[in-house]
Amino acid sequence: MPNVATAIAHPNIALIKYWGKRDLSRNLPAVPSVSLTIDRFETRTRVAWGAERDELHINGRAAPFSRVGAFLDKLDRGRPPCAIETTNNFPTAAGLASSASAFAALAVAANAAAEARLDRAALSSWARTGSGSACRSLFGGFVHWNLGELPDGSDSHGRPIDASWDLRLLVAVVDTATKPVSSTDGMLRSQRTSPYWDAWVAQSPHWVEHALAAIAQQDLCTLGSLMERSTYAMHATMHSSNPPLNYWKPATLRVLSEVERLRQSGVQAWCTMDAGPQVKVLCAPCDVDVVHRAIAPHALEVSQHRPAEGARLVDAD
Ligand code: DP6
Repeated sequence: MPNVATAIAHPNIALIKYWGKRDLSRNLPAVPSVSLTIDRFETRTRVAWGAERDELHINGRAAPFSRVGAFLDKLDRGRPPCAIETTNNFPTAAGLASSASAFAALAVAANAAAEARLDRAALSSWARTGSGSACRSLFGGFVHWNLGELPDGSDSHGRPIDASWDLRLLVAVVDTATKPVSSTDGMLRSQRTSPYWDAWVAQSPHWVEHALAAIAQQDLCTLGSLMERSTYAMHATMHSSNPPLNYWKPATLRVLSEVERLRQSGVQAWCTMDAGPQVKVLCAPCDVDVVHRAIAPHALEVSQHRPAEGARLVDAD
């Protein structure tokens, strides 16, 4: 009989962005980042360790096993065959951080099923090798992913930021098509071809430092402004790549200008976008309804999110 474990993980949205790798084989980041783990969207993953054969099902459909297999091999080179079933309750690969919750849930479930007993930091570091942003979804609330110094990358992982600050993040889905260029390919293209690359790498650690101070002081205006600066700087490296990378759609810009208009009328709300067209808006709980009403006409769907817990085991089946 296989050993079975099931885990849930939530996506996280970067407030200060990760974009670029200083070591491709270990998946070590070129810049540090800060994120918020959000509720309501989740990945649920069941791992049967010692199954008849390697197999992966995503939302009920068979999917290629190779990326997941290489990830599991890092836990145990002599592992038995594994059967993995994973479901997302939100669009996969549309810039909604599905790889973050996917590898975080897989790491927690596989660690339990294999009885490997990795601690949180080691789990986060391992999840990073599956997809960088996944290392942040091991933890709840605000999370800092530091660069790390060790050559093997084991000290480059998420760390929870001690802050009980109740913010809201709205996700405006404007397009559900799969993204044209993956985050991994996009960041490699940016770092190889964008003339703005060095400035991006030099500036990001300062934004992280200031964001950590803004979180400690619960200063939403400073945090929101830093988030927008990091976001636009990251997209500037994308737009200036060769060939250019543009993840935005017309509706992306409509939501952005709506939020700018709100801010001019005194509402504290700021935007971020990842490797996709969706817009995420950060605001205080008291402003969530006014922001929702303003952006809804420009989106297919708007959802409201609170800070969530990190990845965790749940009762199987
Ligand atoms: C734009 O974590 O998907 O969402 O490490 O290559 O798997 P890989 O990349 P991934 O990149 C996420 C990039 C981003 C910004 C962020 O989440 O910080």
